[in-house]
Amino acid sequence: MPSISKKGNKIPPSPIRKLVPYADDAKKRGIEILHLNIGQPDIKSPVESLNAVKETNLDLLKYEYSQGSLEFRNNVCNYYKKHSIYVSPDDIITTVGASEALSFTMNSICDPGDEVIIPEPFYANYNGFALASDVNVIPITSKIDDNFALPSIHEFEKKINSKTKAILLCNPCNPTGYVYSQEEITNIANLAKKNDLFIVVDEVYREFIYIDTKHFSILEDEKFSENAILIDSTSKRYSLCGARVGFIVSKNSEFIQTCLKFALTRLSPPTLALIAANHALNSGEDYIENVIKEYYKRREVVINELSQIDNIKFSNPMGAFYSMIKLPIENAEDFAKFLLTDFSYKNQSVMLSPASGFYSSENYGKDEVRIAFVLNSEKLKNAIKIIKLGLKEFIG
Ligand SMILES: Cc1ncc(COP(=O)(O)O)c(C=O)c1O
Repeated sequence: MPSISKKGNKIPPSPIRKLVPYADDAKKRGIEILHLNIGQPDIKSPVESLNAVKETNLDLLKYEYSQGSLEFRNNVCNYYKKHSIYVSPDDIITTVGASEALSFTMNSICDPGDEVIIPEPFYANYNGFALASDVNVIPITSKIDDNFALPSIHEFEKKINSKTKAILLCNPCNPTGYVYSQEEITNIANLAKKNDLFIVVDEVYREFIYIDTKHFSILEDEKFSENAILIDSTSKRYSLCGARVGFIVSKNSEFIQTCLKFALTRLSPPTLALIAANHALNSGEDYIENVIKEYYKRREVVINELSQIDNIKFSNPMGAFYSMIKLPIENAEDFAKFLLTDFSYKNQSVMLSPASGFYSSENYGKDEVRIAFVLNSEKLKNAIKIIKLGLKEFIG
């Protein structure tokens, strides 16, 4: 019998998708499932992108340049300029989503056994990318009682050793909704610079900010040019999750040249999707503005409705479209399963993401779930009512 790699066996199932079979079963029983488990926006992609794909009259779908065409990367630079990020096409590699950007980055900066420090809870797939790249994640736990703010710099400092290659942040953060301030980003970048580390910042939710603060990008301060790596994506910003177009951006040319070698091995980002992404970059400012307005409304609903549930705590989403909820029970995964297998209200139920998969420390987050507010306000209200009623029945 041929055997599978130890690494393959170790990759954890995604907490976002692991309960899918139970949701499918509930749907077969005629129950409508409200998906709060996955950050799949329900908002339409820009009409410019959809039309461009419909109207394409290509007679050959050829490979694109491995880093994306110069025209496309120029367009990306123009987008960044609007966010006070001044980069050239040579600083950009177009990737198959932020997912591939993260994987190329880990493989370009780490050797097997090297370490990347990440505040937890973090985007669950960081665990998978790290395992696939033989990289050890060193977590630093942020706390719901601090709304998941950046832990003290001293905590990071204590974890740095000869194996440490990078500190990875997500800003705004999935799964907590926290938005790091300019001061927090600068402090951590100074620490990285002082210790010759990379500072990798995943900014796929850059525009999704609901507080009176401007997003501060790691590439805005030229002082960190050699250390800074920006991970980005068109998935959330333009509701183009299925296009699979993202970017790695860095002024460190040695790093970019190394990423390019990985990009060359997979030949090309998806040519047809680049047409959609290119037109999204050219879509009017009002597209994003309207999207953010809609999420702002949803966030209000989430905060209002969750506030009415007794004995829970939840993170106040300052950005992105997620909140972490601490439930008054021991095992949030059992509760999430219960909602799919044993509970419904007016023929609807809810799918949640058990939060332990967003931590790398064992046994953390067992009583927490993450929700994504990617449904309209009415559905969100229903979903949170179901959580409230379900919790009552589950606790008994
Ligand atoms: C923080 C974060 N990074 C990366 C990704 C992956 O994005 P993409 O669809 O561009 O691969 C996601 C998707 O949910 C995410 O939330």
